[in-house]
Amino acid sequence: MSNSTPQPALEIIGRHSLNGEVKISGAKNSALAIMAGTLLCGDDCRLSNMPCLADINTMGQVLASLGVKIKKTGSTWEFNPRDLKAVKAPYDLVSQLRASFFVIGPILTRLGVAQVPLPGGCAIGSRPVELHVRGLQAMGANVIIEHGVVNASVKGSSGRLKGANIFLDYPSVGATETIIMAATLAEGETVIKNAAKEPEIVDLANFCNSMGAKITGAGTDTIIIQGVSRLHSTDYEIIPDRIEAGTFLVAGAITHSEILVTSINYDHLIPAIAKLEEIGCRVLREDETTLRTIPGALKASDVETLPHPGFPTDMQAQFMALLTISEGNSLVTETVFENRLRHVAELKRLGANIKVKGNSALVCGVPMLSGAPVMATDLRASAALVIAGLAADGKTIVQGLQHLDRGYENLEQKLQGLGAKIQRLPHYQP
Ligand code: UD1
Repeated sequence: MSNSTPQPALEIIGRHSLNGEVKISGAKNSALAIMAGTLLCGDDCRLSNMPCLADINTMGQVLASLGVKIKKTGSTWEFNPRDLKAVKAPYDLVSQLRASFFVIGPILTRLGVAQVPLPGGCAIGSRPVELHVRGLQAMGANVIIEHGVVNASVKGSSGRLKGANIFLDYPSVGATETIIMAATLAEGETVIKNAAKEPEIVDLANFCNSMGAKITGAGTDTIIIQGVSRLHSTDYEIIPDRIEAGTFLVAGAITHSEILVTSINYDHLIPAIAKLEEIGCRVLREDETTLRTIPGALKASDVETLPHPGFPTDMQAQFMALLTISEGNSLVTETVFENRLRHVAELKRLGANIKVKGNSALVCGVPMLSGAPVMATDLRASAALVIAGLAADGKTIVQGLQHLDRGYENLEQKLQGLGAKIQRLPHYQP
């Protein structure tokens, strides 16, 4: 008998086709940045279509620790940042959630001082923040990093950051978001060149503009922000989660099923849809917000992750799961993060034939996967293992659900709704 502690796990009985429709939740990564953005406003902000996720709750705790009052009604959250006083984000929360570092820009630009612990690395890479820091320095912040904390303050008597021309060495999503937020209340114009173009950047800019900010160019590589002296309250709806939507499209493809994926934004899914079609699964646009998967014979295709509008790194693991049973050899190359191929070892436990060299994986399609116990190594890797389990013969047990629960709202209920044989075992004894 094993003496390890029981852990929650998902049990999947594979090779059942899916049918029906699944509704996509609000985008985790948009919601996280926009929650930080509520700190910019002196008045109430209301966000709807908020996903119910561990990461979102952690970000809520970060804001609460800074003095923000939060009221939740279903998927609508109200933020009252009038009593924002604390300038220091707590280490125990920031270390759990890297995105909580994004509060540095809004706190600094509102209060003139911000102290945020360095978030540290995570399962997929070292994840430095020097681009965020350099952007704030260019706007006149004085930044001292000591004892693991980034201490930023605004120089000069005005207490306001100053607009600046900022060129990002790399189109970092987080750094672009930090600079946008800091620049909304800065004095004068900020221009970000080589900015990230992800849909979540556009969502953040639209949210800030709905509060009276003056941001143009979001979604292109040059973003211009005219600083304003204050922002007003707003009511804003978070965009659909393109990564969750893409994950369900892959689930349809790998199980050779026709499913409807609803509440999506088509434009945000173009890179994933193009790749699915290349692999052999057709994706029909039923209407503005609904897609239908039409199964087909799966064939190999190369994947290289890139900043948007390239293929998203957050979909790499799920597509690798699909390619394991696609006929032929596929080369999957990860260029965004340095350590994002850890799911390979687990996919191999399910019978996949994959060889890794550097940041590339050669996936040689096999006719079928076979169920086995596997361990999730990070958020998107856990989704990849669930998807692989849906196609594998027999029983797959996915452990390490703390990763999955960070970023997928009710994944197993949504899959059950599509007819998948999946259940959560609350006390799985390995
Ligand atoms: C965001 C997403 C994450 C996604 C990633 C890339 C959130 C909450 N998370 O993360 O799901 O995988 O975009 O699409 O929105 N880098 C530096 N220096 C910096 C900042 C980043 O070298 O100062 C590097 C990172 O180490 C990484 C690359 O840039 O190799 C991309 O990171 P970035 O775009 O910043 O990702 P995040 O904003 O952390």
